[in-house]
Amino acid sequence: MKGNFRKLALVGALAALAGWPAAAGDTSARQLIAQFAAQAHTQPSVARGKALFMGRHTGGKPETPSCTTCHTQNLRATGHTRAGKAIEPMALSANPSRFTDSAKVAKWFRRNCKSVLGRECTAGEKADILAWLSSL
Ligand code: HEC
Repeated sequence: MKGNFRKLALVGALAALAGWPAAAGDTSARQLIAQFAAQAHTQPSVARGKALFMGRHTGGKPETPSCTTCHTQNLRATGHTRAGKAIEPMALSANPSRFTDSAKVAKWFRRNCKSVLGRECTAGEKADILAWLSSL
């Protein structure tokens, strides 16, 4: 009994150290949209975010031409990495823990925009994409 509890506590501590699951809770989609939009001096646009997220792009890796390559076109459903690992839904309505950890959001925007667009997303683009994903 005691041993099990220790093991659980250890797993919890490791999960916390690794920043997983997204429970850091230092921000929210709303806050991030406001921050990115202020940085870019623009109003966030759901339509622009949708076009960027759902569109096909060149300039990045040929095997990931779109955000939907992994996140799929149905953002309320579970997606998958190219290796087949599940990715929780991106739509805020389907997954309220989305966009609550600013370090996580920054890391994946950097990585995924580079894969798909061959460059980092601008602050304006991030505001648009988060506005779109929060509207679903
Ligand atoms: C190669 C597969 C892949 C592609 C392509 C991809 N993503 Fe992701 N994305 C992931 C994985 C894996 C995660 C991390 C796991 C998770 O959050 O469920 C993630 C997480 C994210 C997150 C963090 C979400 C959060 O809760 O903090 C954002 C934002 C994001 N992706 C945006 C994008 C955008 C925008 C594009 C297109 C420019 C894109 N992704 C393309 C695989 C991908």
